[in-house]
Amino acid sequence: HAADAHRTDLMTITRFVLNEQSKYPESRGDFTILLNHIVLGCKFVCSSVNKAGLAKLIGLTGEINIQGEEQKKLDVLSNEVFIKALVSSGRTCILVSEEDEDAIIVEPSKRGRCFHLFSALFLMNNCFHYELGLIQCRYCVVFDPLDGSSNIDCGVSIGTIFGIYMVKDDHEPTLADVLQPGKQMVAAGYCMYGSSCTLVLSTGKGVNGFTLDPSLGEFILTHPDIRIPKKGKIYSVNEGNAKNWDGPTAKYVENCKFPKDGSPSKSLRYIGSMVADVHRTLLYGGTFMYPADKKSPSGKLRVLYEVFPMSFLMENAGGQAFTGKQRALDLVPTKIHDRSPIFLGSYDDIEEIKALYAAEG
Ligand code: AHG
Ligand code: MN
Ligand code: MN
Ligand code: MN
Repeated sequence: HAADAHRTDLMTITRFVLNEQSKYPESRGDFTILLNHIVLGCKFVCSSVNKAGLAKLIGLTGEINIQGEEQKKLDVLSNEVFIKALVSSGRTCILVSEEDEDAIIVEPSKRGRCFHLFSALFLMNNCFHYELGLIQCRYCVVFDPLDGSSNIDCGVSIGTIFGIYMVKDDHEPTLADVLQPGKQMVAAGYCMYGSSCTLVLSTGKGVNGFTLDPSLGEFILTHPDIRIPKKGKIYSVNEGNAKNWDGPTAKYVENCKFPKDGSPSKSLRYIGSMVADVHRTLLYGGTFMYPADKKSPSGKLRVLYEVFPMSFLMENAGGQAFTGKQRALDLVPTKIHDRSPIFLGSYDDIEEIKALYAAEG
């Protein structure tokens, strides 16, 4: 078919989200506008990454960020691009970035006049009054502008991670708006700058993947309704930390290598960019983990903008995300840069890890 050879009915990410949102009569396109600004940030970073060497974007800035990490030039550039894109969407009220110590409270004039209309007819003093009201609807965005910084200079896949909360009334934005459990997110996603540029998104009903067509500058739906395989053949962890692992982690990895039930041993894949490791896990199945260890009892990955968005995607694709103690999306962060151990991936494989933690008591 001509249509197969040259896809002519392109499902762009904007069209897809507009279709989805049209199921909600109260929707006025605010989410689509916000997402379009995130997409713009992703396209900009993608284009910078593709010419990182040429554009002298390789290397360090000389600064140390709030995480105690050396900042790369691309960390700083991506952070600036996303902050500007998000603020200029006119739909955000508070932003949290890995690279900024404090949450960014968007100034009132840029919080946008993003109103939802409501109307009411009521009787007062024997007269009918008609009232037109406005409900403000604003978003909080938490993000890791550039994930996998250690892989920038050698051209290995890196990404951007984001999570979105919604606040419905017009109170002054406070940290409480973002210090919410991950299950309260209305959407989450990541963009991977890999052999192609892929954006994976969930608005709470399944997970969909879009690939950037560079000639069009549009993300096109290429991976509809991603479901993670129920059980996988791959595990992914930084084994260099093994001597400091807790018992259940060590036992699980031992089982991957020397299965006791006669099943074949699993393959190890570890890129060192969470986005790329999670992307592979979503598509191929298996587990990705950044466990606690003796040196870092809370692991390494940050709750708000790494653990939550990826756990949200995993659950929406039929997988699970577990901290070693509880469902990851039930965590209630107390500080914006909190960290947590994380085990995520195929449903059955995470069940196995949960059983090992339960057995330990
Ligand atoms: P970031 O580059 O945003 O600081 O995140 C790095 C994270 C994550 O991408 C990856 O899963 C992990 O660090 C790798 O850590 P190790 O080098 O300790 O394995
Ligand atoms: Mn970092
Ligand atoms: Mn990261
Ligand atoms: Mn980062």
